Amino acid sequence: MRRFIVTTQRQKMLIRGATPLRGSISAQGAKNAALPIMAASLLLSREQLIIDRIPDLQDTRTMADLLGHLGAQTTFEKGTMIIAAPEEPDWETPAHLVRKMRASSLALGPLLARCGRAVLPLPGGCAIGGRPIDLHLKGLAKMGAQIELVHGSVHAKAKGLRGCRIYLDFPSVGATENLMMAAVFARGQTILENVAREPEITNLAEVLRAMGAKIEGEGTGTIRITGVKELSGTRITVIPDRVEASTYLLAGIMTGGEITVHQVIPQHMDALLAKLEEAGAEVFCTEETVSARAPQRLRGISVKTLPFPGFPTDLQPQMMALLSIAEGSSIVQEGIFESRFLHVPELQRMGAHIEVQGNSAVVTGVPALHGTDVRATDLRAGAALILAGLSASDQTEMFGVEHVARGYEKIVEKLGHVGARVEIIPCPDEDA
Ligand code: EPZ
Repeated sequence: MRRFIVTTQRQKMLIRGATPLRGSISAQGAKNAALPIMAASLLLSREQLIIDRIPDLQDTRTMADLLGHLGAQTTFEKGTMIIAAPEEPDWETPAHLVRKMRASSLALGPLLARCGRAVLPLPGGCAIGGRPIDLHLKGLAKMGAQIELVHGSVHAKAKGLRGCRIYLDFPSVGATENLMMAAVFARGQTILENVAREPEITNLAEVLRAMGAKIEGEGTGTIRITGVKELSGTRITVIPDRVEASTYLLAGIMTGGEITVHQVIPQHMDALLAKLEEAGAEVFCTEETVSARAPQRLRGISVKTLPFPGFPTDLQPQMMALLSIAEGSSIVQEGIFESRFLHVPELQRMGAHIEVQGNSAVVTGVPALHGTDVRATDLRAGAALILAGLSASDQTEMFGVEHVARGYEKIVEKLGHVGARVEIIPCPDEDA
């Protein structure tokens, strides 16, 4: 299995702004589809899951490492990952990997379904919130799993899960994915209600069906799964990353240029495109491309993040960066996470006028932001700061680059390709 060597040396990103970005960028495969699909390989025994368009990211490398610890063999070449499932997977997920990536919790459902056991250190919170998995555990318990919390780890056992009706208190993406995978071998039918409808859920359902699962309703509020005896290997392609693609669209707009993103599914970006047009941007779509530009300074709007098809929380920081230089005031409400405003103080350092009140922020647009040194606290906050730096009139140094590496494949090359002057350089530890 190829082990990924990732530099641990501290790095910073230098961003020289005020250049209109123009040109085309191809979207990567969706990180948030690739991770659950990789976890679904744990439902196989001895067979192979071949996944095309896996983005080469810190998080997909971590998931490959996790699968390796559980006995899978993975190879990863030119965007295609081949995962050979173990005959008898180990079912204890290593704490250091779970701590590194919350999406490790997606091993829980498949391990319980496949071998009736799973030990998972609680993933713990992160910069954007407590990130509990109570909805995952509540659903698994209803399917007959015995769940115990021992020294901060979930110990789960099940002598065969049974199908039942589960209503999710919140349409949690991860809980929907874990319960879908847990239900594929359950006795009888499982009806999941009030589930997430994100395109990544639909992609996972397509993979499970291609492996032989009996599953229907994905993309609606109710998913039905009828248990089968076993699944077989398949080959599947990951959908485009709608969040990465949207981030680059915003880069074109914020720098007074125009970027066309290729290999996307425009329908997955409807909420963003509607908001951009409301703010005065011009948006052009074809079958698999989207372009956007701002013929004049955008005007302030209101945005509230909601479960799909609402405005995605993963674009809230980036949208706030754009509204920081729009004409007039905007209101940004975060409806998903309890503390996803850590990018605000960093944007304020760059001259943004933002006032946070609870889970709302009032943004008063300024003509331009200015460069300074800023720190990324999480993946999408980092993306927002890069956008802000690209629009600023001078240079920005961004620390916490490792957060961005989790979700944006080849970001320096992709931005450079459309004219951005961005580089990542080592920085002395004391600066980091
Ligand atoms: C997925 O996280 C994504 N990650 C997140 O993307 C995304 O922001 C989020 O969905 C919402 O769209 C992956 O797919 C790997 P949730 P997930 O369960 O599944 C609460 C990125 O930047 N909740 O839908 O963890 C939770 O605290 C990342 O790519 C519970 O209370 O999100 C949050 O407030 C960031 N109990 C809300 O629900 C639970 O058991 C949404 O969480 C589960 C969730």
